[in-house]
Amino acid sequence: MNIKGLAEKHKEYTINMRREFHMYPEVSWEEVRTSKRVQEELNKINVPFKIIAKTGVVATIKGGQKGKTVALRADMDALQVQECNDVPYKSKNDGVMHACGHDGHTSMLLTAAKILNEVKDNIKGTIKLIFQPAEELAQGAKVMIKEGVMEGVDGVFGIHLWSDVEAGTVSVEEGPRMASADLFKITVKGLGGHGSLPHQGIDAVVVASAIVMDIQSIVSREISPLESAVVSIGKFQAGTRFNVIANEAILEGTTRCFDPSIREKLPGIIERIVTNTARSYRAEGSVEYTLGTPPTINEKKSSKIATKAVEKLYGKEAVAKLQKITGGEDYAMYLEKAPGVIAFVGIRNEEKGICHPHHHEKFDMDEDALVMGSALYAQYAIDFLKEE
Ligand code: NI
Repeated sequence: MNIKGLAEKHKEYTINMRREFHMYPEVSWEEVRTSKRVQEELNKINVPFKIIAKTGVVATIKGGQKGKTVALRADMDALQVQECNDVPYKSKNDGVMHACGHDGHTSMLLTAAKILNEVKDNIKGTIKLIFQPAEELAQGAKVMIKEGVMEGVDGVFGIHLWSDVEAGTVSVEEGPRMASADLFKITVKGLGGHGSLPHQGIDAVVVASAIVMDIQSIVSREISPLESAVVSIGKFQAGTRFNVIANEAILEGTTRCFDPSIREKLPGIIERIVTNTARSYRAEGSVEYTLGTPPTINEKKSSKIATKAVEKLYGKEAVAKLQKITGGEDYAMYLEKAPGVIAFVGIRNEEKGICHPHHHEKFDMDEDALVMGSALYAQYAIDFLKEE
């Protein structure tokens, strides 16, 4: 099966689909048009599908012989970003833009569906194609899984197009690739009063400031220097007037790490610091901790299959190295259900002026790289299903 050739044959289709999705971006949970177009394209090639999680689409391609099941995943949502690119396929939805590359993910997976459908008689096993909503809110995967998308799945493969990776290369190394992303809200209760008489109140601004500083010691003093983690507070809200002692302060922040055991410890550490620091100032502190996504960790064997697939398609020089990323991906939730890998397919091309980071208003991709992504989706599925 010449997967590379088939992907090349559908290159124009892939790019046209990407441009169409790019022109009509939709934010999380509102991927109505995108979902409809995905369904129409699947209908054209007679690939059956189910609709779950509102706008999610799960297509199934059965091979000629019975075997294992592999899931291929793409996300479909866009971002609240005003596009500043001057291109013919510029976003037509004001204030919304495919600034993360999910338009490319969706189009590559549609092409992979075409390829796999064409060669299905020679495939041993079943392929599920997952078109997921609401990745940018880290909610889509959770709902898709709750509605049963991972039942009976033996392995999973996902792609993120990546602006830090040169077009023509792919990173699929094993181990932690993206961080967990959780969030917390701290409430400090003090006692209001007159700014000239601080001793009669309990100043929530001072207490919350002490908490912000004490929290800095988590990474530096409680996490091994050989590990990494991030604890950031991005919001600090308190007070109403220059001469009024604030009776309350609200802090909001996020944590990131690559090790599930560190992730488990962080809520307890933050809670301990918040309650004890607040108490030492006669105030009360409490924490609401919300789990977002776990770290995205590429499983060893799956990473090997993916590496070989890349080499088979485009040679050893196509295998890129990429440092792990402190951003989060809800794809990690599929990896909790089945072994698998996320591939970072390069889209950077400085010669074409394509060098802006994800979520930037001038984010774009080297569209020539999309062929590689479609080929890799298909090749991985075939190779995974062949493994004993
Ligand atoms: Ni993304």
